[in-house]
Order: sequence, then structure tokens, then C-alpha cells
Amino acid sequence: MKGLKYKRILLKISGEAMMGDKGYGIDSSTVDFVAKEIKEAVSSGVEVAIVVGGGNIFRGVEASVEGMERASADYMGMLATVINALALQNSLERQGIPTRVQSAIEMKELTEPYIRRKAIRHLEKRRTVIFAAGTGNPYFTTDTAAALRAMEIGADVILKATKVDGIYSSDPTKDPTAKKYDTVTYIDVLKRGLSVMDSTAVSLCMDNNLPIIVFNLRGKGNIRKVIEGKKIGTLVKGSNGTRVKKKDH
Ligand code: GTP
Repeated sequence: MKGLKYKRILLKISGEAMMGDKGYGIDSSTVDFVAKEIKEAVSSGVEVAIVVGGGNIFRGVEASVEGMERASADYMGMLATVINALALQNSLERQGIPTRVQSAIEMKELTEPYIRRKAIRHLEKRRTVIFAAGTGNPYFTTDTAAALRAMEIGADVILKATKVDGIYSSDPTKDPTAKKYDTVTYIDVLKRGLSVMDSTAVSLCMDNNLPIIVFNLRGKGNIRKVIEGKKIGTLVKGSNGTRVKKKDH
């Protein structure tokens, strides 16, 4: 535990982070890489909860643009997150990390149902908990699920894993003059439409003063560096300091 900045983290991994360069589905060597990164964090003593997306298998928003009813499309996206959660659990457990999956949509043959207090107990017993099926509701993204679950379990921070190493003034893959920020405020993210998480998720974090760190998951050792408080990625926070956390369970 020595040298750790956080006691409990919520790691948000997109579905795309599970597919590597395949373009679709699950790439097992990529999932194993992610699991090894998580193992390194868990071994350092931090409690790790994870929300995983489903965009590598099915994207509800895109299907609804193509004419599918939005609610049905979103439910299909939620099912995709369950597939990813089971793949990640499998990889973590093969590496010796006890892991529990809890789903917001009950499917008891596959996973535990989401029970907040049970999730907290798992974390206290040093199990990694993966939250699947988003919030269980259509129209809410898995980023919003990450913000919600982070608040519910009393996480100290959300680590939002991406393909770039932080938040930029514009898309760094298209604009060579794009500037990377070390710190931005929630309000800046919302006002300037910086691409971090959707506005519902950012607003929820802002209202509860929950910091978000956006970082590159592809860099080896990055999760560990973040939890040690090393300055990588971009920190999103309020303009007046950090949150005072209440213990409420
Ligand atoms: P403790 O209460 O600390 O012993 O936690 P535990 O998770 O080890 O015990 P439990 O008996 O609740 O679970 C044993 C295994 O069954 C774990 O892998 C759980 O994830 C799994 N499990 C528990 N409840 C359910 C459920 O409703 N559905 C499914 N599919 N698995 C479950």
C-alpha cells in the first residue's frame, strides 16, 4: 500500500480496448495485456473495480442511427458488455486475480446480480469486481455507468483508459498543433466539448467532485503509474480542490 495515492479505483475500459487491432470482437492477447496491467495495480494493494464497454461487439448509438429502435439497440450493447466482462474475468483469473462479475441486468446463470454492498465486500476482500451491463438502462452510456458505480462504491478516482495519453485541445491524430492538458476542470470539459466522457457522466462526476484521470492504456505500466500519483494523462477535477469522501455503508 505504501506510495499509493488511491485506495480504491474505478477503471473504465472501452470495448474497443479489448479488440486490439482486429477491428471487431475480442483479441485474447490484448485482453491478456490489459489483465496483466490490472494485475500489476492489484498487486500494489489498490482495490480495483472495472466498468467495461461493449463497442467492440455492438454499438447501440450507431445501430439506432441506422434505424434500430434506440432502447433495443442499447440493450444489445449492454449484452455486449457482459461478453467482455466474462472475457476479462477469465483472463484475470488465469493470472491469479480473484474476480467477480456483477451485472446490472440479472442473468444469474452467468454472473452475480449487481448488489452495491456485496461489491464493496468483494473489494474489501481484495477481489477485483467487474460491473457489466452498464447501468441496466437504455440511453445511458457505460461512461455514465462508470461514474455511477464509482460513486456508489466510494472510489477515490475514475481512471478512464483511452488510446491517447490525455485530453487535447483538438484531436491529436488529426491536428499536429493539438495541445495536451495536464489538468482541466469539469466545466471546461463540458463547455468546450472536450472528448473525455459523455456530458451525463462528466456532470455526475462534477456534482460529486469525483476526479477523472484520462490516460493511455496501451502504455505499459500506466495504470500502476497513475495509482502511484505519477503525472501521466490528464486530470479532470473541480476548480476548488478535492472531494471529502463520506463512508456510508
Ligand atoms: P463470500 O461471500 O465472501 O464468500 O464471496 P464469494 O463471492 O466467494 O461467495 P459466493 O458464495 O457468493 O460466490 C461463489 C461464486 O459464485 C463466486 O464466483 C460468485 O461470483 C458466484 N456467484 C455468486 N452469486 C452468483 C449468482 O447469482 N450467479 C452466478 N452466476 N454466480 C454467482
